[in-house]
Amino acid sequence: METKVLPVNDESIALAADLLRRGELVALPTETVYGIAADARNGAAVKKIFEAKGRPQDNPLIVHICGMDMLRGIVAEAPERAKKLAAAFWPGPLTMVLPKGPEVSPVTCAGLDTVGVRMPSNPVVQAVIRRSGVAFAAPSANLSGRPSPTNAADTFADMNGRLPLILDGGECTYGVESTVVSLAGEQPVLLRPGYVTKEQMEQVLGEEVVVSHAILEKLGDGEVARSPGMKYKHYAPKAQVTILRGSFQAYRKYLAAHAADGVWGLCFDGESARLPVPCIEYGAEEDPAAQAHRLFSALRELDRAGAREVYARCPETDGVSMAVYNRLIRAAAFRVVEL
Ligand code: TXA
Ligand code: MG
Repeated sequence: METKVLPVNDESIALAADLLRRGELVALPTETVYGIAADARNGAAVKKIFEAKGRPQDNPLIVHICGMDMLRGIVAEAPERAKKLAAAFWPGPLTMVLPKGPEVSPVTCAGLDTVGVRMPSNPVVQAVIRRSGVAFAAPSANLSGRPSPTNAADTFADMNGRLPLILDGGECTYGVESTVVSLAGEQPVLLRPGYVTKEQMEQVLGEEVVVSHAILEKLGDGEVARSPGMKYKHYAPKAQVTILRGSFQAYRKYLAAHAADGVWGLCFDGESARLPVPCIEYGAEEDPAAQAHRLFSALRELDRAGAREVYARCPETDGVSMAVYNRLIRAAAFRVVEL
């Protein structure tokens, strides 16, 4: 299959809308990462997403809408908490897991009785949804297990020959996937941290948001993931990544002791000149939003540089940093060394 990469204009939006209505795939930018869209109601179309990504069939997809009226049929009910969070954070990088409505294909939800739904703020996605009238399922546009793409070139690298169209809408604003919160149980549960933080949601809801412990730690053997996506090794570059937790001085000493051909550092802005191995920088130490924006493209740069072994500076674990740490620890297959 030939994969076209087109700039965003009226014509390419119309083409994307037409493909979606006909049950085909379209890769497109959102404010978080690039996604692969297919009509969420059309099980045969959604199956093509799983094939294009090589994604396990038991990992459910997020449904994207462009107005509150589109929730009808997608969710069975929108509880009070969902209305509060929607008013505060939609359109934007927040996914809510709610009881599934009748119109969503079981393929989209991997057979679960809940559905993840979000209203993205990126104008390209909004235009495609509006033009097509299609609420679409869209996972990140990477091959399963690879870092999520945050620009059209990285999307093309993974999806060339696997789908007919990539809309090139430039760099994604946030660079890390949406926050996923479950509102389907007794208490709100954070399933995946993102740009919308636990603290911000707690302020809006006036109650605690429980953090699913799989977010910051490895699941024990036989433990069931509340969000199936969290059980897989994820976001992995080709190199073996290890997180080093400690001061810059300790990090520098460790690198000096482990310097060798193919050994790279993944450090904060301004540090690489003072380090004994080649490094890629992923944002300033005190700027978690910049780290979120940079992390996935930095991991892909390390691949292109031919890194074999990567030692990463450790981010914080609260606020937006929780999202950065959550992705990095998966890229590192949970290898963390305390310095
Ligand atoms: O920012 C994003 O959310 C991007 C863009 C394209 O919108 N999409 C994205 O999709 O990251 P994906 O498929 O890569 O990640 C979806 C995550 C997975 O961890 C999945 O397990 C979880 O959301 N999820 C989806 N539906 C769920 C449900 N019904 N119950 C629990 N977890 C769910
Ligand atoms: Mg993904």
